[in-house]
Amino acid sequence: MTKIKKIAVFTSGGDAPGMNAAVRAVVRTASYHNLEAFGIYRGYEGMIDGRIKPIAARDVGNIIQRGGTILKTARSMRFKTPEGRKQAYENLKEAGIDALVAIGGDGTFTGAQVFSQEYNIPIVGLPGTIDNDIYGTDYTIGFDTAINTAIEAVDKIRDTADSHSRLFFVEVMGRHSGYIALHTGIGSGAGCIFLPEYDTPLDELVDVLKKANDRDKMFNMVIVAEGNRSGNAMEIANRLNEKYDGYESKVTILGHMQRGGAPSCRDRVLASRLGYHAIEVLLKGESNVALGIINDELCLTPFQEAISQAKKPKSSMLEMARILSM
Ligand code: F6P
Repeated sequence: MTKIKKIAVFTSGGDAPGMNAAVRAVVRTASYHNLEAFGIYRGYEGMIDGRIKPIAARDVGNIIQRGGTILKTARSMRFKTPEGRKQAYENLKEAGIDALVAIGGDGTFTGAQVFSQEYNIPIVGLPGTIDNDIYGTDYTIGFDTAINTAIEAVDKIRDTADSHSRLFFVEVMGRHSGYIALHTGIGSGAGCIFLPEYDTPLDELVDVLKKANDRDKMFNMVIVAEGNRSGNAMEIANRLNEKYDGYESKVTILGHMQRGGAPSCRDRVLASRLGYHAIEVLLKGESNVALGIINDELCLTPFQEAISQAKKPKSSMLEMARILSM
């Protein structure tokens, strides 16, 4: 066992439903082991500004069901500079912090990796992002809630698409990652899915629409990831209109509603497991690792590996979606 006495937890990057459940688990497991817990407010920005406050087991009551993050979050440019990190380290030293739990995505882990090497402070990371694009875990905290929010919205749009016999392009989040689009597309029976990771030629969509028309299918749903490689939903819709005018088409961008709301039960359980294990592994002397769950088992992945390995949706799932939507 290590000599860790004071730990601090923070959330960073885009918020994700379930981050609060993770914070609760970290703080309560720390309390169970008689550690002092601190919350750092606004991620790395707050570390630089010294926004580090004690947080007790009872302070995290009634938050397991809340979306967003009670610790607030930020995308910090200052932490990318050596001066910013030095200031952050001095603030942690002043508060007597021995170890950190970082909850966030790729950017958060990249910052943690650099920081722990520069200042030799034990850090473990919990994958918290709706994008599900972190290597070393089957699912990230927030993904399940986000896809359920997206599906609910698409189901509603589908009612109006059906009533008016329209083609709808629904854009979902994912600047670099197609997991939300793929799962929302499969779950909603979309006619076509556009992702950042793979090319989907426009002709494929035209073909789907023509075949649908031949079968008298008078509406269709197309799911487009925000960062789709051949353009966003509006661009795809415009290009299609120039090529094929069999349908009246509309575009809906779901946007940030996908990041909010109460976390699903799956996200709460995942976050609770990871938050609990964060403290357990820190006490066993682990550092510089991201925690994840693969095949229902806890997995530790060095930050370096977690940030350098790409995790992308299986192309076979895209192929399956094509077959099922015919
Ligand atoms: O947190 C991930 C994510 O929601 C991406 O899917 C999206 O591209 C990005 O964040 C948007 O970030 P911001 O809210 O900072 O514009």
